[in-house]
Amino acid sequence: MFRRTLAAAGLATMLAGPALAQTQLTIQHPLPLNSHYGAGATALKEAFERATSGRYRVNIQRNDNEREVIESVQIGTAECYLGSTGPVGNFVPEVRTLDVPFLFRDYPHARGVLDSEIGQQLLTRFQPRGLVGVAWLENGFRHLTNSRREVNAPADMRGLKVRTMENQVHMRAFTALGALPTPMAFSELVPALQQGTVDGQENPIPVIVANNLNQVQRFLTLTGHVYSPAVLICNPAFLARMSAADRNAFNEAARAAARANRDRVSADEASGVEELRRRGMTVVTQVDNAAFQQALSSSAGQIEQQLDRALLQRIRDWR
Ligand code: PAF
Repeated sequence: MFRRTLAAAGLATMLAGPALAQTQLTIQHPLPLNSHYGAGATALKEAFERATSGRYRVNIQRNDNEREVIESVQIGTAECYLGSTGPVGNFVPEVRTLDVPFLFRDYPHARGVLDSEIGQQLLTRFQPRGLVGVAWLENGFRHLTNSRREVNAPADMRGLKVRTMENQVHMRAFTALGALPTPMAFSELVPALQQGTVDGQENPIPVIVANNLNQVQRFLTLTGHVYSPAVLICNPAFLARMSAADRNAFNEAARAAARANRDRVSADEASGVEELRRRGMTVVTQVDNAAFQQALSSSAGQIEQQLDRALLQRIRDWR
């Protein structure tokens, strides 16, 4: 009986063929699946699994502590990070250049720079820090929300406790505007807003919509004070184990991810403000950008002196 079971099992294995060796690839990102990051991660999963005929399985996981995820990728406990550049400057200081307020004029400018040689060169700066910068994606232009008052001018920012990312450039800028910047991981944001530890926060429209921040914030001002790039970062040893063909397929899948992610940002930008109004937010749309830039000018010199000024100029001159 026992022998017959073994024989049957052997026959079944022969008919099924050798078990398919499958490599797991985990991508962690901080937002719900139904978001611009979710769209990017899903496009990558579909394209890469298809191109490798299922030899790779991509697991998409949510982790809204971006610094923690980058550390995991560096030590190899997660294969890839898809998230904003907010904390990336703490690992790859050159990336801080992109975090300067009012550096990018609009979406075509930001996307054009990141797709150009400038963006490619910045991606090469990750390798010496034990990370691979695979592709630029997008978070979007950041806007201010708060629960206290309508912010129409820089003077209205005075004394507002604003959660910022763990990003020195952003913190300096908010201090210059008279606000009290409080850096924390995104995972801590909603409780901090509920408990009044902070009055406000700043994030792109797709983030405010996907996370229902309207439930904890009443006022939105379309400051567009800084463009927030996103980036796909992976563990170098993991990528080095891929065959050249699989690596090409992965890069191609990353490009598909960037397209899907940007398309979703554009769609959210087109419908998001109206949606947030519908959900009850008071939206200030007419913002005097020049006044905000003027209020930041005292800190701009100080911020830029620690960055690559030639690179900043190249970005500003980009047409
Ligand atoms: O505010 C942040 O920390 C980031 O913009 C977020 C929401 C995690 C998306 O990258």
